[in-house]
Amino acid sequence: MSSPLAVESVPPRGERPRVLSGIQPTFQLHLGNYLGALRHWAREQDSFENYFCIVDLHALTVVPDPDVVRNSVLELAALYIACGLEPDRSVIFVQSQVPAHAQLGWILECHTPLGWLERMTQYRAKAGTGRERERAAAGLLTYPCLMAADILLYNADYVPVGDDQRQHVELCRDVAQRVNSLRGDIFRLPEPLIRGTGARVMGLDDPTTKMSKSTALTKPAHAVLLLDPPETVRKKIARATTDADPAVAEPVGPGVANLLDIYAALRSLSREEAFAEFAGTSYGALKSATADAINGALEPVQARYRTIRADEPWLLGVLAESAERAADVADATLLRVQRAVGLR
Ligand code: TRP
Repeated sequence: MSSPLAVESVPPRGERPRVLSGIQPTFQLHLGNYLGALRHWAREQDSFENYFCIVDLHALTVVPDPDVVRNSVLELAALYIACGLEPDRSVIFVQSQVPAHAQLGWILECHTPLGWLERMTQYRAKAGTGRERERAAAGLLTYPCLMAADILLYNADYVPVGDDQRQHVELCRDVAQRVNSLRGDIFRLPEPLIRGTGARVMGLDDPTTKMSKSTALTKPAHAVLLLDPPETVRKKIARATTDADPAVAEPVGPGVANLLDIYAALRSLSREEAFAEFAGTSYGALKSATADAINGALEPVQARYRTIRADEPWLLGVLAESAERAADVADATLLRVQRAVGLR
């Protein structure tokens, strides 16, 4: 028998590697979220043990309207499922329904040097400078510790994220390593799982910046939203920035490259194959074919979404059951950490 003071270590890996990722329930999902994240998560469900979180605690860092939070959680859960995540193959759960996230988040905050957090690019961008920073929510600073808790609670092997989140996953590894070196083999070190260039959808109005949820909120022309009706998609794509050339020709500018990439991703082609299909044709032809491809992909997603949203008791039931499955894993990790730091 182990001595009561011996610290338990991280449990062995399962048969399949475990992934955990999360999206904030703020603003609607867009085509970039679908092509860059959700579609891959759905396709790869059989290769992994899957945990997908709706990170509502993170959403509070921007102090949104309570009704917006409540509604966005259900909308995002329904969209996860509508995009192909299946509740019996993936644990689809709401962060705040598993209290261990906030509990481990605090312990990790106490093990993270302030300097590491102050260096984070996302914090620096969101908290502003001077007066603005004085008033910024403290949660913006400690956010990466909560995200580290999300990941470490599940002993995740991989964290599928966009390139902009790489720094946060690195910080998660650094904190985990720090705790491990102080207190024993507590945490499994996760690896970021970042897709290649084809997965990066750029803004329709500004193809030099990544398509973003917050920009889409103030500038509707920036992004196709997953719940946009077909006519809206057509208009947004028709207005997408291209360049001064009359036709698709080498070298393509960033706006044309973005449309070709979207088309290629939806039709499972390479950029070169998509280019060959449109070389010499007008931008109108490329835009119309791209809008058709998007609408073809979104139609079944929107139909499933409507069915799921029409049955709220079912959706709430799925989330409640998933939160229990998530808590089984998360609570075991939390207990291990609590013991290791002297809390139990
Ligand atoms: N910070 C991530 C983002 O803004 C969201 C997130 C929170 C997350 N917790 C996570 C992503 C855990 C992956 C794993 O996109």
